[in-house]
Amino acid sequence: MKFNIALLAGDGIGPEVIDQAVKVSDAIAAKFGHEITWKPALTGAAAIDAVGEPYPDETHDVCVAADAVLFGAIGHPRFDNDPSAKVRPEQGLLKMRKKLGLFANVRPTFTFPSLLDKSPLKQERIEGTDLVFLRELTGGIYFGEKGRRDGGETAFDNCVYTREEVQRLAKKGFELAMTRSKKLCCVDKANVLETSRLWRETVQAMEKDYPEVEVAYEFVDAVAMRLVQWPNSYDVLITENLFGDILTDEASVISGSMGLMPSASMGTDAALFEPIHGSYPQATGLNIANPMATVLSAAMMFETAFNLPEEGKVIRDAVNAALAKGIVTEDLADGGKSYGTTEVGDWLAANI
Ligand code: IPM
Ligand code: MG
Repeated sequence: MKFNIALLAGDGIGPEVIDQAVKVSDAIAAKFGHEITWKPALTGAAAIDAVGEPYPDETHDVCVAADAVLFGAIGHPRFDNDPSAKVRPEQGLLKMRKKLGLFANVRPTFTFPSLLDKSPLKQERIEGTDLVFLRELTGGIYFGEKGRRDGGETAFDNCVYTREEVQRLAKKGFELAMTRSKKLCCVDKANVLETSRLWRETVQAMEKDYPEVEVAYEFVDAVAMRLVQWPNSYDVLITENLFGDILTDEASVISGSMGLMPSASMGTDAALFEPIHGSYPQATGLNIANPMATVLSAAMMFETAFNLPEEGKVIRDAVNAALAKGIVTEDLADGGKSYGTTEVGDWLAANI
């Protein structure tokens, strides 16, 4: 098959980890007889520097024309501590999500048998964890009206959801649950928030269409606690934008390293794949960043966007083999022998 893939490397370690995912994808293409055309485009601080805009129109056009988008990371410290900065890299990310209509952010959390001791959580608690968050990505407090009043002394961010926004996300949740263990948890704060009551009411009304799925409704504060106590008790979780942002960072601790967790953002016509970690500016150019999360994001791309599960599995097997053999970057090396970002990528590609 032939694929056009938009390549948005972004900032910090983004370009370094993206290079490894390209190597691995090219190895897959060679093995299975596919043809990939990479379409690099600017985003984040790199795009602000070049054209004054974190998600330029040209980049959007490249994404729209592509079969999938592979994304590195964005963010640069020079914007973080400057509340007066007019344009920020993160605005590019939000604009991209909105313009591409990427309403469902799929964030799996799973453990690797060879890395169980890397998690700060007790091994017997996390063993066998295999859960997926479906985070709503284009609504809620991130996109509601925001501003200042009272001469700047009062600030507000509105949280708004429509029934239709909840339905389309929940539909993906039910469908995913049907392919897994048929358990769905709706995470909300319906004891306090009106938007959460809309979420709960909407999901409840959809239950009859999926009679086999067992649905639980839990408050976000309780989930935050149970997630690290009994991660094994969850399978598919659906939630709104901000709750999902927070809980998925928390969930990444279970796997033992942020450098391992991939994600997909799905819309009606677009699909984007990215590691859940950020741009890790301190490590830029040092060839120490862990490329596994980006490589596994490429695996998700083959599986989800191109419907090629075998290709995805070969990538996952290569990653597991590297982890088992200790072909890892320093974050996973426990002070022992470690490999550079590029060496890990080379090993994976050669192994494939
Ligand atoms: C994420 C990130 C982004 C978010 C930031 C960088 C805007 O934390 O993808 O989880 O909050 O969605
Ligand atoms: Mg986040």
